[in-house]
Amino acid sequence: MNILAIETSCDETSAAVCRDGYEILSNVIASQDDIHAHYGGVVPELAARRHIEIIGQVANKALEQASAGFEDMDILAVTQGPGLIGSLIVGISYMQGVSYRYGIPMVGINHIEGHLTAPLLGNQQVCYPVLGLIVSGGHTMLVKMDDVGKYTVIGRTLDDAAGEAFDKVATMMGLGYPGGPLVSKLAQKGDPNAIRFPRGLLRSQSFDFSFSGLKTAVLYKLKSESHPIPEQRQADIAASFEEAVADALVKKTLRAAKQYGIKTITAGGGVIRNARLRTRLEKQCCKHGYRLVLPEPILCTDNAGMIGTLAYYYRDRAMLAKDNAIDPIPSLKFVG
Ligand code: KG4
Ligand code: ZN
Repeated sequence: MNILAIETSCDETSAAVCRDGYEILSNVIASQDDIHAHYGGVVPELAARRHIEIIGQVANKALEQASAGFEDMDILAVTQGPGLIGSLIVGISYMQGVSYRYGIPMVGINHIEGHLTAPLLGNQQVCYPVLGLIVSGGHTMLVKMDDVGKYTVIGRTLDDAAGEAFDKVATMMGLGYPGGPLVSKLAQKGDPNAIRFPRGLLRSQSFDFSFSGLKTAVLYKLKSESHPIPEQRQADIAASFEEAVADALVKKTLRAAKQYGIKTITAGGGVIRNARLRTRLEKQCCKHGYRLVLPEPILCTDNAGMIGTLAYYYRDRAMLAKDNAIDPIPSLKFVG
């Protein structure tokens, strides 16, 4: 089954051609960082306009790279939410046009579920239950997965998402946008043990997270330093911040795996590109005997490949645009 997928929930225009729920034949991602960097964050109206300008080219490129045409597609998959309303509308409208023109049924996919299943659907033999950690720009969650589509959320952030904390710390440090990769680059030269930042809710028995206290601690630390802050000290602050995020995420994840008796752990979302977090997850899972399934970097951040592979599992829901309109849902809930 060939699936053409589109992902336009935020500021990446992406199209992919996937096959049978595990194979990604092409995964084209056009970043809009050049536009939004100037404003220090995503400007929704500009994001939607750029999606409109390039979505056709991105979809054509994905088809070309997969040596396929629209007529070879069996279903169309599109991100329905959560995301920016204008951005979601562009992806959905584009796919509706394709559905009308070629008579191909389409299905709406949850973006967060896409992040969750992205690492599992790529050729891996996975035995459920799996414990999934989602760490993106807007979400931080621990999910018990009994199968694709059978989830129980066992923890979530009570305030900022981990990616959001990275982005805010980058702004505080004057590093610019996108924040995560910039903090991470600076942190490479720093000492992660230079400053002991708070690990929100680590002592609590719940599997919830909190990153706003950490963010405020970084702010006060930056204010208390003599300015201009030397580069090495900045790197130490970045590395210590990263360490605090990784520590909280990894310890809670392993604790949850132990409590629920789950042997396989997976993680997805943009923050999983972070080298310190990946290494720490790998080391701890190895030490405690858990199998860890991590996505390759391209599948961590927003991409249509994760939408297309997941859509295979929801293929029975696909309908022609003429029979069923898919509504964009900016706050689409993750089905628990
Ligand atoms: O999953 P994603 O691409 O989009 C959302 O669904 O939100 O995640 C984006 C988030 C941003 O907050 C970005 O700063 C963060 O992922 N991120 C990183 C890294 N690369 C991206 N955070 C830490 N280290 C990175 N290397
Ligand atoms: Zn995302």
